Amino acid sequence: MPSLLSKQKSARNWLRENWLRVIVHIGAWLPLVWLSWRAFDNALGVDPVTTINNVTGRTAMLLLLFCLSATPLYIVLGLRAGLTVRRALGLYAFLYAALHFLNFVALDYAFDLRFILADGIQTKPYILVGFAALLILIALALTSTRGWMKRLKRNWTRLHWLIYPAGLLVILHFFWQAKAAEKWEPLIYAAALALLLGTRAPPIRRAFVNWRQRRRRADASRAVETLTPHAPAAAPQTFE
Ligand code: HEM
Repeated sequence: MPSLLSKQKSARNWLRENWLRVIVHIGAWLPLVWLSWRAFDNALGVDPVTTINNVTGRTAMLLLLFCLSATPLYIVLGLRAGLTVRRALGLYAFLYAALHFLNFVALDYAFDLRFILADGIQTKPYILVGFAALLILIALALTSTRGWMKRLKRNWTRLHWLIYPAGLLVILHFFWQAKAAEKWEPLIYAAALALLLGTRAPPIRRAFVNWRQRRRRADASRAVETLTPHAPAAAPQTFE
């Protein structure tokens, strides 16, 4: 039977390998737990629909941006941990986007399709942009399994590249609906997205990969230098 000590050790090892997964899974549920708690307590403010809309919309956008930062973090810093949570982040972004949409259709417009078309879409054209982003997120969530990856082969990568246009559409949706005095916020996210997309550009990506390789080689040779005992001084030359 494994001793308590070895159990503790394996739990510590598991946590060392999976710490980011733990943070992502706990962190991603927090906004929903907070919303449910406040709703249960009747404490969602004077306009609960707007509160739900803002929390779900922002959470979906942030999770999408985190998901989009996994590959750039690997390219720039060589961090692999982000790659292991990319799928979870994308699925959570989809979950919150779906709740955001559901809040709009069910709580804001009471499933009245005619009212949604007449009032919602005509007076708020940014909704169409959000809808386009949501359609992309649905397609990506449905095909995120290993089965679809195998079935679609190279087309899977092509399809999942759509996450970048989805990010752009979401920021446009956010920017369009923001009041003039509040446009700075979506602009910050737009700058972050531009930075993330920039690292994917082939020349920039290559430059970072080369820089990391050079650094790794330099580190390795430094380690060899410190590990190798000093070579014995050359034997004194004799002139017999
Ligand atoms: C059919 C799909 C969508 C609909 C109907 C929709 C609807 C809305 C509406 C009505 C607002 C403005 C609320 C207001 O006037 O205060 C809004 C804001 C917002 N939406 Fe969407 N949206 C959709 C898709 C998305 C998606 C896919 C995302 C992110 C992944 C998103 C993120 C946001 C954000 C960040 C805001 C700003 C919230 C804030 O001001 O705090 N939306 N959306």
